[in-house]
Amino acid sequence: MYSPTPEDRFTFGLWTVGWQARDPFGDATRAALDPVESVRRLAELGAYGVTFHDDDLLAVEPDRERAIANFKRALAETGLKVPMATTNLFTHPVFKDGAFTSNDRDIRRYALRKVIRNIDLAAELGATTYVCWGGREGAESEAAKDIRAALDRYKEGLDLLCQYVVDKGYDIRFAIEPKPNEPRGDILLPTIGHALAFINELEHSERVGLNPEVGHEQMAGMNFAHGIAQALWHGKLFHIDLNGQHGPKYDQDLIFGHGDVKNAFFLVDLLEHGGYDGPRHFDYKPLRTEDAADVWDSAAANMRTYLILKEKAAAFRADPEVQEALANSRVTELAQPTLAPGETYEDLARDDFDLDKAAERGFHFTRLNQLALEHILGVRG
Ligand code: GCO
Ligand code: MN
Ligand code: MN
Repeated sequence: MYSPTPEDRFTFGLWTVGWQARDPFGDATRAALDPVESVRRLAELGAYGVTFHDDDLLAVEPDRERAIANFKRALAETGLKVPMATTNLFTHPVFKDGAFTSNDRDIRRYALRKVIRNIDLAAELGATTYVCWGGREGAESEAAKDIRAALDRYKEGLDLLCQYVVDKGYDIRFAIEPKPNEPRGDILLPTIGHALAFINELEHSERVGLNPEVGHEQMAGMNFAHGIAQALWHGKLFHIDLNGQHGPKYDQDLIFGHGDVKNAFFLVDLLEHGGYDGPRHFDYKPLRTEDAADVWDSAAANMRTYLILKEKAAAFRADPEVQEALANSRVTELAQPTLAPGETYEDLARDDFDLDKAAERGFHFTRLNQLALEHILGVRG
């Protein structure tokens, strides 16, 4: 039961299981992990693929060519895929004021070179999504950054990278990952909504979408399932980072479902029934308290929780009482266009509408919410 297989399309960043648990207040609690071991262990656990930052490959082998060869060999041995890759534009001190939007022009040029080099590797490994998480693109003071100029430079960088991919004939799309803050005091493109609006201004906007992360929206007090629904509505859900978070505080990167369980339930319901066909990618951090063996339990927990929620979402949808409650709450009526075909605003005047009666009628959402909760708690279906 709840054993993942590659058909479930579960993927993990190498930096997740490989996180050594260094935080601003303390040293690493775990040894560096060889990406080759991560690939093998994740394949054994039933994952479909791995994703990586350029620098993740160098965790135990500093020679880039040798590290890539080792990684490729492990992928070939296990059959694990690489659907997504990304660039580390945040660890090195050179990126302290950002990469594409650093005030320093030479650093902006270096950042673009670093991305282009890894895009070539991503294409070679068959990745079709390239994530851009601008963790250092931001500021701590309004005086320090001209935000409009920074957005010009952000656009210039993405336009250039899109052009590169088009010229090379790579089958790669870009996915921007919003985050409100951390490590910068304020990060550019802080939420799904900001990023969607920005994408509209890009030269190759059809090639750029989103990689929203559960915790990042919840840090900003947003409803993640709602954000994902809107990203889907715009055709912009290119990829997703699944994890857990307890409300607005530092970025916790908890195991999927170990934060807001109810929102996770409705998220899985949406992903499974809303037309998303990309990988289910986990971007979490094994707790700092855990040892090397616990790391693999934590990786397995993400997938198991997803599969449990998937089963519960299906049971919720199939429950006749839920269907009746959905109809009673007129949830399905919302799919009906407000005007009938051929009607105009003039027809609105002819409605036979009882204002007081309509105002009086309840929507019975309590019953629906309780039914969902009871499915989640396992006392129904
Ligand atoms: C975070 C971010 C990062 C990015 C990843 C891709 O937790 O702040 O999610 O983990 O997703 O680095 O660049
Ligand atoms: Mn995060
Ligand atoms: Mn992420």
